[in-house]
Amino acid sequence: MCGIAGYIGYREAYPIVIKGLQRLEYRGYDSAGIMLYDNKIIISKTKGKVSDLEKLMNSENTKEGTIGFGHTRWATHGIPNDINSHPHVSNSGNLVIIHNGIIENYDSIKQELTKRGYTFQSDTDTEVLVNLIEEIKKTNKCKLGKAVQIALNEVIGAYAIAVFDKEKPDELIVARLGSPIAIGIGEDNKEFFVASDASPFIEYTKNAIYLEDEEMAIIRKDRGIKIRKIKDDTLITHEVQQLKMNLEQIEKGGYDHFMLKEIHEQPHAITDTYRGRLIANKGIIRMAGVDDNIEKFLNANRIIVVACGTSWHAGLVAEYLFEDLARIPVEVEYASEFRYRNPIITDKDIVIAISQSGETADTLAAIKLAKEKGAFVFGVCNVVGSSIARETHAGAYTHAGPEIGVASTKAFTTQITLLSLIALKLGKAKGNLSTVDYQNYLQEMELIPKKVAELLTIDDKVKYIASIYKDVPNCLYLGRGYNFPVALEGALKLKEISYIHAEGYPAAEMKHGPIALIDENMPIVVIATSKGHYEKVVSNIQEIKSRKGKIIAVVTEGDTQVKAIADHVIEIPETNEAFTPLLTTIPLQLLSYHIAVMLNKNVDQPRNLAKSVTVE
Ligand code: G6P
Repeated sequence: MCGIAGYIGYREAYPIVIKGLQRLEYRGYDSAGIMLYDNKIIISKTKGKVSDLEKLMNSENTKEGTIGFGHTRWATHGIPNDINSHPHVSNSGNLVIIHNGIIENYDSIKQELTKRGYTFQSDTDTEVLVNLIEEIKKTNKCKLGKAVQIALNEVIGAYAIAVFDKEKPDELIVARLGSPIAIGIGEDNKEFFVASDASPFIEYTKNAIYLEDEEMAIIRKDRGIKIRKIKDDTLITHEVQQLKMNLEQIEKGGYDHFMLKEIHEQPHAITDTYRGRLIANKGIIRMAGVDDNIEKFLNANRIIVVACGTSWHAGLVAEYLFEDLARIPVEVEYASEFRYRNPIITDKDIVIAISQSGETADTLAAIKLAKEKGAFVFGVCNVVGSSIARETHAGAYTHAGPEIGVASTKAFTTQITLLSLIALKLGKAKGNLSTVDYQNYLQEMELIPKKVAELLTIDDKVKYIASIYKDVPNCLYLGRGYNFPVALEGALKLKEISYIHAEGYPAAEMKHGPIALIDENMPIVVIATSKGHYEKVVSNIQEIKSRKGKIIAVVTEGDTQVKAIADHVIEIPETNEAFTPLLTTIPLQLLSYHIAVMLNKNVDQPRNLAKSVTVE
């Protein structure tokens, strides 16, 4: 949460930083601020979005300077207002900081600094940190880098920071613990970019370094970068990575919203997930992360999935996949709960951590715990080089491409695709799947992208349904088996972007509570595909109908039974039961998208949410 972007070099910093912040807005958008240096420090900050900051800059300030940084905030300490916005300045006015993370012991440090005469304008932990650095610099009579290092050894919490000192205007210091920092290296080592991910500098350089936890970098104009361990000052050399991301991937490409673009990218994204891994005509699924550790997978007593949000829903689908196809027991855990229990884990367990961003703090902590307890940890991430990808023993990328809309769409379906491949591979290796069944699954997987593309053409129908129900206060989503997690995900999408209260339930559980909510005003989205408890779900639909609920049913094409009773039906192409989530999810994504658009909500940046949750 919170995005940071900075530049030091020979170009004007303002356009680079402001565009960078726009690209990082998915990380938080409660407020935005910028610092530029051109013989004097210029700071501009405001509650609201980066576009509000731009307006402010246009009306108030000069935009000169070849060094600068900016911040887009997801509020933790202190309400989102102008004063709590970053950057924050030290009492002397010399030091400026931006910060993504939380300093947990800020209160005791603040009290100590207050005793020494420091005053604070904001309620933030960040303003405490910048003054701590100032105090250390003053009392130790040291350089900025040293002061930052000492300060970071005193704080408890998580951070990605960038610090500037007026007395050293050709230098930027960045550091990380728990929150990401990418450094872009421009031509001839003469300019440098810093950011929470590489998107702000993708058009300037493809060369990047990712800081590891507990590392800091001292970046000097014309003189390069020095990376040190924060704890013991050891000098580190990092391999420069070649970025594969391109500009088109992070722009809207003619769509009104990133979310819609990403929904429509799913046929491609799913293909990219299995490209080079699935060779259906030869009956091969190749995945280095699994192949290299195949014995561990085959001998595992159980699989524990840890994840948050939509990725947790993908984990629930994986539970069905692994138990059904590979006959391995699975437990699916919210990472945030798992990390604070005293879970029983042995070296016979495999932990699969699922995360789009690869940066979610709770998932990362769960991984560390599982590793400590001896488990083999496998990561399923989208963002290449992310913290979770690096922290896990092995893993596989989903290759969905950048997902920018805060509500996750293509990340979900590509995670399920990848997990399906693993389950099939293990199912075959363990002898649980016959060659014929295995072969059928592989061939069917190759058809999924085409079926998703076909489904996307029903957009107008979904739009019509959205127009009928857009003003409801509540909505219920029901599904069974493989489609129970899809019901949860459908409900999550609706509440995230339209702010309509929605709940997902296993269809049969409806009678144990939610049925009390049903009346003629309540829409109920029911996933009733032809395979997997169809008759039972039809009975559930009858129960809803007799209570006058409005039924929006997702059925398999050719269905007649549900069609006769439901108020609306959306048909999905025929597929095997295990792959239905890849199709049933699509209309639910579109439904929430259209409702949110009709309600005039900010689809890509829903209130209070952030895409990458790097704090607890
Ligand atoms: C946030 C996002 C969700 C996402 C969840 C887990 O809450 O808003 O869309 O599902 O984090 O993120 P991850 O990157 O770990 O999949």
